[in-house]
Amino acid sequence: MLMAGNWKMHKLASEARGLASNLRRALADIDRPVEVLLCPPFTALADVAAALADSPIQLGAQNLHWEEKGAFTGEVSGQMLKDIGCDYVIIGHSERRHIFGETDESVGKKIRAALSARLKAIVCVGETERQRDENETEAVVQRQVREGLAGLSAPEMASVAIAYEPVWAIGTGKNATPEQAQEVHALIRNLISESFGEAAASSLPILYGGSVKPDNAGELMSQPDINGALVGGASLDADSFETIVRAGVAAAGAIDK
Ligand code: 13P
Repeated sequence: MLMAGNWKMHKLASEARGLASNLRRALADIDRPVEVLLCPPFTALADVAAALADSPIQLGAQNLHWEEKGAFTGEVSGQMLKDIGCDYVIIGHSERRHIFGETDESVGKKIRAALSARLKAIVCVGETERQRDENETEAVVQRQVREGLAGLSAPEMASVAIAYEPVWAIGTGKNATPEQAQEVHALIRNLISESFGEAAASSLPILYGGSVKPDNAGELMSQPDINGALVGGASLDADSFETIVRAGVAAAGAIDK
């Protein structure tokens, strides 16, 4: 079970440090099998890394460039993220796909760059409202998963998590129902099984994201193929994120995942 907060473009470095310290205190009793991950903006990574030093809470970035170094003004490499203390990086978030034009091809290149920098990748997939209305959810998710992960080996999949984030549920307060999410999570696990084998599929963490809140987290996390959450707005407040993490702990305890 992986409970992750994506802080998006929120929090000055000092605010981020305060939130990370509060969460470190609040979640001091949380241990395996539940992993907690905070993904602040680039400018706050160093402060959050310091606040989390020697704690089991992990650090992630929200994006990276696929090259190791060079003339790429404004970009940040996997090695730079690793160097500052990141364990994870989010790749292909729908905001990056839709606002900044990322494609399945660039997502694939970024995944390979993350793995070669020894970062774990959280690969985001999900359909828009129009695609769901036109019954294209399965085709869209299948294409994003297949093309994003093309060329990876089964052992490399041990460093990959997938986040299913229906675009219509992000920041809207409209979450997928547990049944809708479970259906797509099961589809993703099948796709991974077909491409990488049963062992890679059964150990793959598949997170749900899209308006996860304290009052819906428990039901979502109890679904058999939901192995965690990628939380946006509700991860910006220590109390609400703590409640969501504890919902994950309760679900993990009940079904041993
Ligand atoms: P919200 O939780 O604010 O809907 O955002 C979800 C998300 O995009 C996480 O990556």
